[in-house]
Amino acid sequence: MKTGDKLTIGLFGFGVVGQGIYEVLQQSLSLNANIKKICIKEPGKKREAPADLFTTDYEELLSDPEINVIVELINDAGEAFKIVSTALKNGKAVVTANKKMVAEHIAELLQLQEQYDTPFLYEAAVCGSIPIIRNLEEYYDNDLLKSICGIVNGSTNYILTKMIDEQMPYPKALEKAQFLGFAETDPSLDVLGIDAVNKLTILIAHAYGVVTHPQRLLHVGIDRLNPFDAKTAEEKDFVIKLIAQAIKLTNGKIAAFVLPHYIDKSSQLYAVKDEFNGVVIQSSLADKQFLYGKGAGRYPTASAVLSDISALRYAYRYEYHKLNTHAEITDDFYLRIYCSFEKITQIDLKDFEWVEEFHSQEVRQYLIGVIQFKKLIASNWFNKKIISVIVCPDGVIEEIDTRKVKKLSHLLAGSHFVEKTSETLSNLTKELSGI
Ligand SMILES: NC(=O)c1ccc[n+]([C@@H]2O[C@H](COP(=O)([O-])OP(=O)(O)OC[C@H]3O[C@@H](n4cnc5c(N)ncnc54)[C@H](OP(=O)(O)O)[C@@H]3O)[C@@H](O)[C@H]2O)c1
Repeated sequence: MKTGDKLTIGLFGFGVVGQGIYEVLQQSLSLNANIKKICIKEPGKKREAPADLFTTDYEELLSDPEINVIVELINDAGEAFKIVSTALKNGKAVVTANKKMVAEHIAELLQLQEQYDTPFLYEAAVCGSIPIIRNLEEYYDNDLLKSICGIVNGSTNYILTKMIDEQMPYPKALEKAQFLGFAETDPSLDVLGIDAVNKLTILIAHAYGVVTHPQRLLHVGIDRLNPFDAKTAEEKDFVIKLIAQAIKLTNGKIAAFVLPHYIDKSSQLYAVKDEFNGVVIQSSLADKQFLYGKGAGRYPTASAVLSDISALRYAYRYEYHKLNTHAEITDDFYLRIYCSFEKITQIDLKDFEWVEEFHSQEVRQYLIGVIQFKKLIASNWFNKKIISVIVCPDGVIEEIDTRKVKKLSHLLAGSHFVEKTSETLSNLTKELSGI
């Protein structure tokens, strides 16, 4: 595709986003782009567009030589990959919003773009209307980019806002998010953190040149949080947010995961409520920068799709410059976490480097402590549904003082720690803080 080419579009999907882009393109006359055909699944549905535009036959779009752009907006990632890979092989530029498809096939999609020399853009796949991918791709040099930390899933943010601000029970908050159209067709993608980790997979490709599969990144959603955790948040003047984050450590390796976080008032993410998304980008010279906006919905998402279509007019494509840096993911760092449970015997305290707080109430107990990331994910208690884990503010720790660790390990080894009362724990905590 060359600069100035007329854009003749084949659109797949006419749902929330598909209909949105159809409407928006009708009003964007200066774009010199028109939709020639729309492929949908159910031919019998009533549509807000002329009937002769619709087909259920992929080939009418994919084999039409006049169509030079495929806009893929269906809700089936497997079929979407078939459509997108055929389109790229047929030399058609592709725009998509399908994060699951992009994240799960990013390595193959990179290869197809290179082999067939066709542009493939997906700004709408991450944070809806927020222009995060092009910013990471074009503006932030890998060496300067310290971290990206974001609320990237509007549906879970909406649920958490309702749970904390209005004490709404989780099932009711989820139902409301679904009713308002913020949740994915399959809401488990949102609440289990799968949608967020798909987006993180895409973000780290553009931020640090790391190409991986979402299943290789730790992701925990919001389904294990309970009202006790929300109450603790309130007592500490925190909010709970589901955060996708990637941090470049001093050894050049990347720590990347999706976990619930306690956020304090000093963070810009504290005020990101309801279905909104926000991303804090930290670079070594500029310090923190904050992008905020609507992460889902018909027109916010359509605006990002429109921007990609528009970028094709000047033959824009992602260059993936940072792939050459060969950055790697690491699990060799520490986290300061809050961990709540019914009884302290449900976790293994020996996994912690140290414990800073322990509180016991009739309904539930919690501790705050520092644990090595790889020990956390390997532990036999971390994945239990009765245990909730939340990362504390500034919770990523690169290195710890080994003298402290030795002393603590020693204390734990001789202390039958798990059988001790909260009073003994608090004495131990005092002793440790004096090391
Ligand atoms: N909704 C959002 O706010 C949002 C935000 C960011 C990204 N996205 C992404 O955008 C994409 C579309 O989401 P959506 O919310 O617009 O979905 P949606 O409202 O559920 O609509 C899905 C559309 O895909 C069509 N479709 C499904 N399978 C098909 C197939 N095999 N061949 C042709 N058409 C097929 C459906 O056809 P019928 O009409 O015939 O059923 C429908 O028109 C998804 O990848 C989603 O993750 C959505």
